[in-house]
Amino acid sequence: MRIAILTSGGDAPGMNAAIRAATVVALALGHEPVGVRHGFRGLVNGEFEPLDTLSVADVLRSGGTVLQSARCPEFHDQAVRDTARAVLAEAGIDGLIVVGGNGSLTGAQYLSDPEEAGDWPVRVVGIPASIDNDIALTSLSLGVDTAMNTIVEACDKIADTASAHDRVFLVEVMGRECGYLAMTSAIASGADMVLFPEADRTEEQLVDAVVESVLAVRQRGGSQKVIAIKAEGIETASERLKTLVDEKLAARTGEAPEVIETRVTVLGHVVRGGRPSAFDRLLGSRMGNVAVRALADGAHRQMVAWQPPIDATDATGERSVHDPYCHLMPLDDVLTATKHLLEGQSPLARWRATIFDDLEDIFLL
Ligand code: F6P
Repeated sequence: MRIAILTSGGDAPGMNAAIRAATVVALALGHEPVGVRHGFRGLVNGEFEPLDTLSVADVLRSGGTVLQSARCPEFHDQAVRDTARAVLAEAGIDGLIVVGGNGSLTGAQYLSDPEEAGDWPVRVVGIPASIDNDIALTSLSLGVDTAMNTIVEACDKIADTASAHDRVFLVEVMGRECGYLAMTSAIASGADMVLFPEADRTEEQLVDAVVESVLAVRQRGGSQKVIAIKAEGIETASERLKTLVDEKLAARTGEAPEVIETRVTVLGHVVRGGRPSAFDRLLGSRMGNVAVRALADGAHRQMVAWQPPIDATDATGERSVHDPYCHLMPLDDVLTATKHLLEGQSPLARWRATIFDDLEDIFLL
């Protein structure tokens, strides 16, 4: 088979591990790996390049993606997808691996839609990659572990200066529609509280939650530092939240607003870059391996999933015969479940919100 691989959407640490594994496994099985530069946009323009052991020899340690990536809103247009299908057929591609997040996997779903594609001969398999961990039917996506480690390292550093000055820090972390990174890194960094969109708090409730945490920390004595992690997906901007918190703290304590010092740190794209953790290298390698073997076994319109979580109970996925921790989940099921997850309706979304509700009292989160 000629197996093409592309990385699309926001880059994620571990994408290179997937590219490397797909390349070397394809070669070992007698297939021909082909890279596509710049995701779906490059695909439409026929940006193919051969992949061999040399071209992927040193990529495992790097963040980002050596194939580069792009967001491609043009892919919503069927004419653009028709072009992409024609380009793939003309290049003699038999299988396509799409490494990316919700939007990219949706692109893969549309590209391979039987109604649109007819008897198009290319088989498509997805690998979930998104630091937000916002893809359903997989416990983890590529890049999440590295991003979490980056946030924890940043919070450890911020905690030093927060302790030194008895300050309150609002630390904003990436996560457009999903608060997973905020929630897990709050636990892993020992933050005092976490704000995430799934809790559905009003602006006033957000402010109150921060203020209550600050007052509780002050009351218990010891270090006066407060680290509050806020997901990017919370609508109230961090600077606005800080202003509202300052005002309310001053009103509650009767002290001047500058007495309790608050600061905002927006980690932004720092969270998405950097050398992949050992786990992301492993995850990318295992998923790349399974994706190639699945294509060779005839899989089509599937996504490689890592140990499906509780929202996978009704899905029709199958455990991969090549790796007991990987499952092949139908792309259609993945994207329907992802929609429910992001709307806060899936069992997993509800569980995440409930567990943090309980934790708030226990850990002062
Ligand atoms: O890839 C996911 C993500 O990092 C989100 O957390 C963030 O909101 C978004 O991408 C940023 O996208 P861009 O880099 O295109 O601005």
